[in-house]
Amino acid sequence: SLVSSTSILRQARLEGYCVPAFNVHTLEMLQAVAEAAEESKSPVILQSTTGTVKHLGATYIAAAAKTAAELVSVPIVLHLDHCSDFDIIARCVRAGYTSVMIDASMHPFEENVRQTRKVVELADAVGINAEAELGKIGGVEDGVSVGEDEAMLADPEECALFVERTGVHTLAPAIGTAHGIYKGGPKIDFDRIGLIAGLTRAPLVLHGGSGIPDDQVRRCIGSGMAKMNIATELRMVFTEAIKAVLDRNPDENDPRQYMKPAKEATKRFVKRKMELCGSAGKA
Ligand code: 13P
Ligand code: ZN
Ligand code: NA
Repeated sequence: SLVSSTSILRQARLEGYCVPAFNVHTLEMLQAVAEAAEESKSPVILQSTTGTVKHLGATYIAAAAKTAAELVSVPIVLHLDHCSDFDIIARCVRAGYTSVMIDASMHPFEENVRQTRKVVELADAVGINAEAELGKIGGVEDGVSVGEDEAMLADPEECALFVERTGVHTLAPAIGTAHGIYKGGPKIDFDRIGLIAGLTRAPLVLHGGSGIPDDQVRRCIGSGMAKMNIATELRMVFTEAIKAVLDRNPDENDPRQYMKPAKEATKRFVKRKMELCGSAGKA
């Protein structure tokens, strides 16, 4: 069955590796991630954004994730990514999600603390993980755009205070990455990751994983990041494979004919990320 990410990420942080979290939008994407995890012997986090919950329904996603978890031997987590709506969070928890993110990073510190505490209470009541964001991560995610001028890095002292006051299990501090593909590469503040990690034992979450060069991902992990979110690149790999089939054969109308190569390409991509994160072989 699906497991909470709390102990998985604590272990990753202690041992200095990172567990990748993939945003999935279709059954085949979800299967590709679960099968890649099984073949790589890696723990893995399946996640859906609020938009995908609205698109597919929390119960459909949870049912598919639960089935995936029954079919593999590695731990699988189902996480709700970037949610600012408490009712949707509660709905996902009822559906069986084992981790939820309350994103109240657009609010002032005290309001972020208040909303996060409420979600932590809910998560603790059912033994699942809660993630929150501090600072503002740039880029576009689920239609929400944060411009480069609005993006704001997290303050290390505030991170420590935030974890202490909310009891949040995992923390996503803004450290210079952005959602989507970077124009000209990310400007990651590695020292800041180290400072934050030095002030709190909470496993840290790296958002904006698509487009970060491998050596910089390794430095982030070395500085204390224990979870890395990957959304855009997974979508691109999946969609490019479908396009390639339809380009070759514009009359193709059997979804299996283009979903199969898309799933295979996605699996290969996921396995590469598991090697990069050091999570392969850890389950
Ligand atoms: P990317 O789209 O850059 O991979 O960001 C993913 C993410 O942070 C999802 O929360
Ligand atoms: Zn994110
Ligand atoms: Na990115």
